[in-house]
Amino acid sequence: MNYPNVHVMTHPLIQHKISMLRKIETGTKDFHELVHEITLLIGYEASRELPLEEEEIQTPLMKMRGPVVNQKVCIVPILRAGLGMVDAMRSLIPAARVGHIGLYRDPETHLPVEYYCKVPPDIANQSVIVLDPMLATGGSAAAAVSALKSRGARDIKMINVIGAPEGAEYFSKAHPDVNVYLGCMDQGLNEHCYILPGLGDAGDRLFGTL
Ligand code: PRP
Ligand code: URA
Repeated sequence: MNYPNVHVMTHPLIQHKISMLRKIETGTKDFHELVHEITLLIGYEASRELPLEEEEIQTPLMKMRGPVVNQKVCIVPILRAGLGMVDAMRSLIPAARVGHIGLYRDPETHLPVEYYCKVPPDIANQSVIVLDPMLATGGSAAAAVSALKSRGARDIKMINVIGAPEGAEYFSKAHPDVNVYLGCMDQGLNEHCYILPGLGDAGDRLFGTL
């Protein structure tokens, strides 16, 4: 399969934490904390290319020109499960705006259905980072990015924790201009389009609605 814009993380801490996340005995509190910690680690990579400019700052000893991020950032979680990743990205980029896209997968067709979208009006001038723990068929991720592009977004990245090759390929074809930062690539999908071995339903595990 071919998915050139999907970058799979290799850091041992990410791999370790994803193994803890998958375990059936990991409860809601630990699941939430692990999603937070994994997002911090992937978010560090996904924000590597943010542009810098120099600003004059005063240390206790002297003036200097210090590098500061000069790009507006908008974080966009895909509801529900992407909400579990927001606080981590906001702690990395405190000035970031937060948009929201509500999508659910139709249980019969597995196709995404959009039910909510609210993003900043000047999203065209912002670097957008879309958040969702799961990239299964890729339908939700691709639909979210299409919705953002239709509202003017041009500079978009995606962070997912676990993906399937089918979803990575589908997303790469739909949005070859969008880089995906993926914690781990799994084997594939089952007949219900769940990721194997995966972690089950991310939203249910995050919010305790199993
Ligand atoms: C899950 C997940 C993704 C989507 C991935 O959401 O959080 O948004 O499925 O599947 P896909 O790649 O095949 O589109 P779900 O539809 O279960 O909604 P929820 O977060 O509200 O539970
Ligand atoms: N959504 C999930 O939460 N888990 C999967 O494995 C696939 C879609």
